[in-house]
Amino acid sequence: MSHMIVVGAQWGDEGKGKIVDLLTSEVDMVVRFQGGNNAGHTVIANGKKYVLHVVPSGILHPGKMCVIGNGVVLDPEGFLEEIDALAALGLDVSPSRLKISYRTHFIMPYHRALDGAREGHAKDKIGTTGRGIGPCYEDKKARVGVRAGDLTDPEVLKSKITHALEEKNVLFTQLYGLPVMDAEAVFQKLMALAPRILPYLADVSSVILDAHAAGKRIMFEGAQGVMLDIDHGTYPFVTSSNVACDNAALGSGISSGIIGERIAIVKAYTTRVGAGPFPTELFDKTGEELRSRGGEFGATTGRPRRCGWLDIAVLREMARLCGPTSIALTKVDVLSGMKEVKICVAYEYEGRVVQYPPQTPRGLDQVKPVYETMPGWSEDLTGCDRWESLPENCRRYIDRIQELLGVKIDYISVGPDRKQTFRR
Ligand code: IMP
Repeated sequence: MSHMIVVGAQWGDEGKGKIVDLLTSEVDMVVRFQGGNNAGHTVIANGKKYVLHVVPSGILHPGKMCVIGNGVVLDPEGFLEEIDALAALGLDVSPSRLKISYRTHFIMPYHRALDGAREGHAKDKIGTTGRGIGPCYEDKKARVGVRAGDLTDPEVLKSKITHALEEKNVLFTQLYGLPVMDAEAVFQKLMALAPRILPYLADVSSVILDAHAAGKRIMFEGAQGVMLDIDHGTYPFVTSSNVACDNAALGSGISSGIIGERIAIVKAYTTRVGAGPFPTELFDKTGEELRSRGGEFGATTGRPRRCGWLDIAVLREMARLCGPTSIALTKVDVLSGMKEVKICVAYEYEGRVVQYPPQTPRGLDQVKPVYETMPGWSEDLTGCDRWESLPENCRRYIDRIQELLGVKIDYISVGPDRKQTFRR
């Protein structure tokens, strides 16, 4: 059985939640493998709006198994709040169908405090979500992180928290003017949450591979977008995990050899939240129109998203990293009513035309987009349910993207509801 990975192709917020939700009907298990509650997947189903942060989108489908892999960073309090909210909406969030890896790192209160303090003090802010993501991944790499499995051994847990705070408290008090954080209080708070979290812990590699051996189909659900990848994104304006497809294996404890299908989610235009280069950003009325029509406000922080034209150079970078087998193009309806639509097909950089984002530190700030302009369409697309029902100019726009990337656009989405995505 070939499994699938679904990743965001731009700077996040491509509408992954919606596509994952749709494809979940074809799978038995959904796995999150990176990121944390910096993500916000909005899914509208049966007239109800669900916002998921760290729980896999498969939770909205009765009977599907959901797995949080070792590559995720999990805020234990945030997790419990999220499952409580989902339970209140009538969903089954019991440990029989939701698993957390023993090796998943915990986002601790000192990670959140450090994230906030750094952003508050920085001259060049990254514009993080403030959820403590970066400091948590830092501790993981520094080999001082707290993992979910540490809840089974209070002695280890206490010693790790004490050790971490010895260093963090120097930063809090000496650099950031914050009060000391008490290790005992942090430990006690986590121990109080432990009875609710422990039943969810599992050897996630075995859970996934047992499902694989039993012929079940699995989806690996990416968060954020490839341009926010810690290695290959617009560093330092990135998140702190590897977003690109191949991290699905390492972030969940399996071999990538069992994953065949790679679906990249591309929004029909580009958005980003937070700081960092964005060559096709629009500062005019068209940008404002995209934001208001597309409802481009962050699902996690509510921040207005920066908006611009579709950028093929960015998508080429994504394609060479991820090798997508198909593309899902979302929010095509938002472009309706534009007299013209533009596609950035390459950049001008240092007197040359380049096909990929330059790799010099400020290269992407210095490029000038090379645009192709195409006629727009006025028709409302929200009722379209097949390729033939799309206006001709819209089909031309989609075909041109497909041609430029050399990857098939298999899914097209024209609205937020489950029914508004169709296969070409
Ligand atoms: P962090 O992941 O909170 O450290 O934030 C780092 C950068 O990634 C910031 O620019 C955030 O706005 C961005 N970011 C993180 N998660 C998401 C997401 O799910 N969608 C869009 N941008 C995100």
